[in-house]
Amino acid sequence: MSGFGRGKVILLGEHAVVWGVPALAAGLDRGVLAEARPARIAALACAPWGTDDPLGADTELGRAFSAVVEAHPRAPLPPLRVEASVALPAGAGLGCSAALGVAVVRALDEATGHAASDAEVAERSLTWERVFHGNPSGLDNTMVAHGGVARYVRGAPLERLDVRRPLRLVVGDSGEPSSTRAMVEGVARQRERDEARFDKSLAAIAALVENGRLAIEAGDAHALGQLMDLNQHLLSAWMLSTTALEDMIGAARAAGAKGAKLTGAGGGGCMIALVESAEHGAAVARAIEALGFAAFETEVG
Ligand code: PMV
Repeated sequence: MSGFGRGKVILLGEHAVVWGVPALAAGLDRGVLAEARPARIAALACAPWGTDDPLGADTELGRAFSAVVEAHPRAPLPPLRVEASVALPAGAGLGCSAALGVAVVRALDEATGHAASDAEVAERSLTWERVFHGNPSGLDNTMVAHGGVARYVRGAPLERLDVRRPLRLVVGDSGEPSSTRAMVEGVARQRERDEARFDKSLAAIAALVENGRLAIEAGDAHALGQLMDLNQHLLSAWMLSTTALEDMIGAARAAGAKGAKLTGAGGGGCMIALVESAEHGAAVARAIEALGFAAFETEVG
């Protein structure tokens, strides 16, 4: 009766994706495993955080759980207790809340014998995401449900990319939690201040994303790395970077990473660095760890 939701990283285009620009993202191997079983009281327990929220509880997790239970195609459901093991840092830009939502939706489906496509799981988990994020682009829940490397445009079906060479990434975690909702609202305020300038940044990011897609399809890690660096400049101009993120990005570049940027909402959370090989990745991870931050290596595509 278990369901899995994988984490994700955004390779290019976070935040701009909220405003209709495409983004490139990749599913991670690690994520959230949820198990549902019949119980006297319907509840959601998340082991690493020690939370245990009954259905209808007035907490974010309680409201999100109620949203997906009530929107289930077989509702009203018998009481189910869902226990989740979360193997992703929360509020770190790796899609933790979406991975939890997708895992819970899949566990409910397993327990009720409802077979759903990835697209249906993605759509139902958007109700979950709306509890945590005011204006989610839908990228997180869609990527988390599908995995792979893909181009996402708000409101459109996910487009899987034909990855010529798998991408090796190092993920560095600043350990600073950040609120996606607050960061998205901060970017919206920048737009209010100067719309023409904001639109220029959106156009620049759109061009980076389309070139990034070509680089991934051609297996050109050098070009992709440069595009990541350029995207980081534009994200910092939106005040999304932090000293910890900049330190990790600087250390990764100094250790020879092909490109590095924050990933996800920023304001804390994680950065990613593109590397050439497992050995190179280990050197970049060591450089990040030497600053006192956690890092792990992963391959996508
Ligand atoms: O930090 P995360 O994993 O919540 O990613 C957010 C991605 C944004 O583009 C900043 C917001 C969104 O809804 O797409």
